[in-house]
Parts: sequence; structure tokens; C-alpha cells
Amino acid sequence: MSLFRIVYVSDAVGDAREGLMPLIDIIGASDRNNRRDHLTGVLMRHDGQFFQAVEGARVDLDRLMGRLRADCRHTNIQVLADSRIDHRLFADWAMAQADAPPALERLLERRSDHGLYNAAFMGDAERILFDTSQALAAAC
Ligand SMILES: Cc1cc2nc3c(=O)[nH]c(=O)nc-3n(C[C@H](O)[C@H](O)[C@H](O)COP(=O)(O)O)c2cc1C
Repeated sequence: MSLFRIVYVSDAVGDAREGLMPLIDIIGASDRNNRRDHLTGVLMRHDGQFFQAVEGARVDLDRLMGRLRADCRHTNIQVLADSRIDHRLFADWAMAQADAPPALERLLERRSDHGLYNAAFMGDAERILFDTSQALAAAC
């Protein structure tokens, strides 16, 4: 079965911009649903923006994206990457939650300032995900 990874950024809305409880609710639902759907990934939040990667089968990812687009806790979803992958970076996590590393903080600040993307931006995102997956694995 082919695997895909979607990476996106979005703007958090209302309480979801900073509150701990909205984040706990999101991670709780993600953990429950993603286990059911064999999806894995990571979610980070910084400065009122979400950065998420989700990996799995096409049909499950498309269903999730439909739910995400209808979720009023965030808006302006901008997909940075949607590509076929050979292996999962977050195989052990239905939805890991991680602090944004400095490289992600810089990336999201650039997004706020310029609101545009280029190949370098996506390359940075891929590197951040790889480094985060290594850090999560090392912390286990
Ligand atoms: C930033 C963000 C990330 C989310 N990530 C996931 C996810 O990985 N998996 C998931 O099932 N729901 C996720 N959600 C929640 C969905 O939008 C939706 O509320 C949920 O899937 C509905 O699940 P339910 O029908 O079990 O209540 C996320 C929501 C937000 C705002």
C-alpha cells in the first residue's frame, strides 16, 4: 500500500492560539482517530500557528484533511508538501506533540512576515520534520 505525507501550516483561532486545553483536546482526538486510521505524525504550535505532518494511506489522509478544513479552531491551511513516501518518520506516534525548534520558529515568523512559500521553505520544513523525528526517537 502506498504511503503519503502531508505537511501543512495553519493559523490557530481563538483559545486554540495559546491555550493548553484546546491543544490537549486536539491531541486526544488525534490519538484516538489516528490509531483507528493507521495515521501517524507530529503537531507543533508556535506563535498562534500550527505546523502538522500526517502520514498514512491516501484515503485516510483525504478524510482527515476534510475534517481539518472544517475545524474552526484553525484557518488558512496551507499545504507545504503532499508526497508519496517510502517510510514513515513518525511510525511510533499516532500524533506526537513537540515544541517548535528554533528553525520552525524562524520558518513560521517568515510565513507571518511574507505569507509566501518557495522551495527553500519546503526544504526547511522537511529538515525540521526529520530532526524532530530523531529527537523524539532519542527521547524514548
Ligand atoms: C491543528 C489541528 C490538528 C488536528 N489533527 C488531527 C489529527 O491528526 N487527527 C484527527 O483525527 N483529528 C485532528 N484534528 C481534529 C479534527 O479537526 C476533528 O475535530 C476531529 O478529527 C473530529 O474527530 P471526532 O469525529 O472523533 O470528534 C486536528 C485539529 C486541529 C485544529
